[in-house]
Amino acid sequence: MTVGNLAKPKFISEPNEISYSPAIVITVLRDEMIRSYEGSGYSLMAHGDEVGKVAAEIARVLFRNSPEVEFLAETARLAGCLHDVGKVTIPEQVRFSPLFFTEIERKIMENHVTAGKRLLESAGFHREIVEAAHFHHVWFAGGGYPFCGLRGEQIPVNARIVAVADHFVARVEDRSYRLGQDPDFVWFEMQLASGTHFDPRVIEAFSQTEYLRAMLA
Ligand SMILES: [Fe+2]
Ligand SMILES: [Fe+2]
Repeated sequence: MTVGNLAKPKFISEPNEISYSPAIVITVLRDEMIRSYEGSGYSLMAHGDEVGKVAAEIARVLFRNSPEVEFLAETARLAGCLHDVGKVTIPEQVRFSPLFFTEIERKIMENHVTAGKRLLESAGFHREIVEAAHFHHVWFAGGGYPFCGLRGEQIPVNARIVAVADHFVARVEDRSYRLGQDPDFVWFEMQLASGTHFDPRVIEAFSQTEYLRAMLA
């Protein structure tokens, strides 16, 4: 590669150039997702898999008229599976902290979005997957974290999809320190937050999924 008319030095790699296969990276990351919360009564991988399943269903509704619907649903699934991968970098004292965080612990926990972005980026994952890990806690009307100034459709669509899937799944699932909340109540509150916390189009798509119908039955 040349930069202007200068040859690029050999030792500088391309940002997304990787020397090991994505399959190996996924295996290592998933092993770490299983190991990192062992014994805590919480499975980062099971949470990711569930969010991935719901995100794919939402994408299938949202993009149902696109010829690429299956590809887009698979992208959303992978984005959901890996959205919290940055949590493997959080120190155990914070990772296993129960309900309440100190201010410093909360900052460390919030850093999982930046850590996830860096991990996935350096492993060569597609931009859509990286952005979902980075921005899934950003609010549709602005706010949330990380501080990035994005709002509305400036927020990458997979991040908006994962935000809805993650919020619902996280609140209804049991944790070692609390029981999951009532799905009807969680869904009621999420509809109130349509347009502020969540993208209204994604909320509408979520309302049409089999997953939500089964949860509210
Ligand atoms: Fe997260
Ligand atoms: Fe999550």
